[in-house]
Amino acid sequence: MEIIIEKMGMSDVPRVTELERQIFSMPWSAQSFETSLRSKDVLYLTAKADGALAGYCGFFQSFDEADIMNVAVREKFRGQGIAYRMLRELMELGRDRGILRYTLEVRAGNKTAIHLYEKLGFKSVGIRKGFYEKPREDAVIMWTNDRTGESGYC
Ligand SMILES: CC(C)(COP(=O)(O)OP(=O)(O)OC[C@H]1O[C@@H](n2cnc3c(N)ncnc32)[C@H](O)[C@@H]1OP(=O)(O)O)[C@@H](O)C(=O)NCCC(=O)NCCS
Repeated sequence: MEIIIEKMGMSDVPRVTELERQIFSMPWSAQSFETSLRSKDVLYLTAKADGALAGYCGFFQSFDEADIMNVAVREKFRGQGIAYRMLRELMELGRDRGILRYTLEVRAGNKTAIHLYEKLGFKSVGIRKGFYEKPREDAVIMWTNDRTGESGYC
């Protein structure tokens, strides 16, 4: 199976939104993705497995920092390193845009995702109490420690 990681375009939005609805209890709408894709501060990637959408992720840049959002891999494609590959590529592309540090929030109980982010160099720096709804849950706030310009995930 060939996995291709490429920039998300407007034509991906219907399939992305469909997967988003399958995976998240508070899914983003097609309009939210479309608005994001129009912003020069946003970059989203998709992973396609033999042409089928396997996953996606993105960031919102603010100066030399960026917030990673909407990390998702279709259930049948999980555990094969697709999220890791997508995020590494996303962070490398971000570095070319001058991003030095990344942050994200993750459900405190989402051990799989927390482990994935730690592998990419993120560290937990705090908790946002009751941040998530459906179900209500704390968020762990994670950051890469990358103020030197070196990659935080090598
Ligand atoms: C979190 C998610 C994106 C991981 O995608 P994935 O492609 O399966 O992840 P990878 O195969 O790249 O795995 C990378 C690491 O994640 C962890 N991981 C993946 N699958 C796991 C599992 N079933 N159990 C525990 N850890 C797991 C491992 O640490 C793995 O590292 P390893 O290879 O050293 O074991 C995917 O599970 C998903 O879409 N979950 C639902 C949405 C979600 O929670 N998104 C994150 C919101 S912040």
